[in-house]
Amino acid sequence: MQKLEIRGGRKISGTIAISGSKNATLPILASTILTNKKVTIKNIPIVRDVETMATLLKTIGSSVKFNKRKKKIEIINNNALKTFAPYNLLKTMRAGVLVLGPLLAKYGAAKVSLPGGCSIGSRPINFHLNAFKKMGANIKVKNGYIIASAKKGLKGCLIRFPKISVGATENVLIASCFSRGITKLRNCASEPEVGDLINFLKKLGFKIDQVGKRSIDVLGLDKLKPTVHKVIFDRIEAGTYIIAAALTNGRIKITNVDPKIMFTEISLLKKMKVKIIEKKNHLIVKCPKKIKSINIGTKPYPGFPTDLQAQVMVLMTKASGISTIKENIFENRFMHVSELRRMGAHIEVLGKKAKIYGGSKLYGAELMATDLRASVCLVLAGLVAKEKTVINRIYHLDRGYERIEKKLSNCGVKIKRLK
Ligand code: UD1
Repeated sequence: MQKLEIRGGRKISGTIAISGSKNATLPILASTILTNKKVTIKNIPIVRDVETMATLLKTIGSSVKFNKRKKKIEIINNNALKTFAPYNLLKTMRAGVLVLGPLLAKYGAAKVSLPGGCSIGSRPINFHLNAFKKMGANIKVKNGYIIASAKKGLKGCLIRFPKISVGATENVLIASCFSRGITKLRNCASEPEVGDLINFLKKLGFKIDQVGKRSIDVLGLDKLKPTVHKVIFDRIEAGTYIIAAALTNGRIKITNVDPKIMFTEISLLKKMKVKIIEKKNHLIVKCPKKIKSINIGTKPYPGFPTDLQAQVMVLMTKASGISTIKENIFENRFMHVSELRRMGAHIEVLGKKAKIYGGSKLYGAELMATDLRASVCLVLAGLVAKEKTVINRIYHLDRGYERIEKKLSNCGVKIKRLK
């Protein structure tokens, strides 16, 4: 099993180009099931989850040309697709369930594996399934599979999500494109990645109105068109590298970003006194003399993202004073804490809240990655830890961070992959 070895304590400086967003790419790829016209998607991040989604589309019969060098995927669905998504592809990537909506809407039937377990919480998909039922689908769960059918297709209706969910908004939005009549979606997620999906679906030819901050009306189909789309940048990856610069006394230029999209993350880090200069398509980040402690809670967009919680916690271990984090999205997303403590961090967890005592000296250790964002927080801790840090199970990291060791070593980090 591959590992990462980091020798901490080096000042980092240089330029890091941010990749396309994994969380925008995955629903966009799933939604290509809806069309038989050629689609070209650019700025694709070369990460494991995207490869898994491309394999899933190939498995059901899409013709998928993945040009990794050009970061581009071309898809054309010449024939009817299979409506079966197997467990072996969904067990490692929960977003695989996003093929359920388009398959059900287009073909009136789908058998899709329930996604595999997840270490950060139970992550049910009841909002997705309840919405499809309201749209007229018959849904059974048997032998670990969702068996869905809607012989006459799905019908438009009013769907009010009980709680904001990125995945449910995306799955139901994609399915609504092919339903009869108008679908009104309420209490939707408004993450930029949902916005990117809406832009893509509109380019394909679907009529979609964002009638309010959390309200989307799907009006149906105009005419399907061949489409070229460039995926938005990964704001979580950008946030991670801002924190890397802040931690290491460095100066980093972060390119391929749109600072407006990550104003919450940037303003929070500025409150911690991280020096960030915002330009149109790039950021300059400098390490502050002193990092200020802060209290935050994770929230759906435009709130502070749960996907950056573990990374900001590492910065808090270096702040002056005590910081707190309230994790409001997932019930079990503090698993990185025990590993950070093994490195010398002083952190207390009580239920949803973590109390981080600043000013800790971190020491390198052999560590275990538990999920995607927890893994990258251990990399960040390794950058400032004394001596050597070795991170095991980095397949989690490879699911969502493109060439992290290359991007960091280009900036002077001593980091290598042990095979
Ligand atoms: C997406 C992101 C993930 C991010 C998360 C929250 C992708 C591929 N993944 O995950 O990186 O951490 O948003 O921003 O985009 N819930 C239910 N029932 C449901 C659906 C969700 O109870 O049917 C709950 C979840 O357990 C969680 C909350 O709603 O507590 C939000 O989850 P959701 O927004 O759906 O997360 P994902 O779409 O899985």
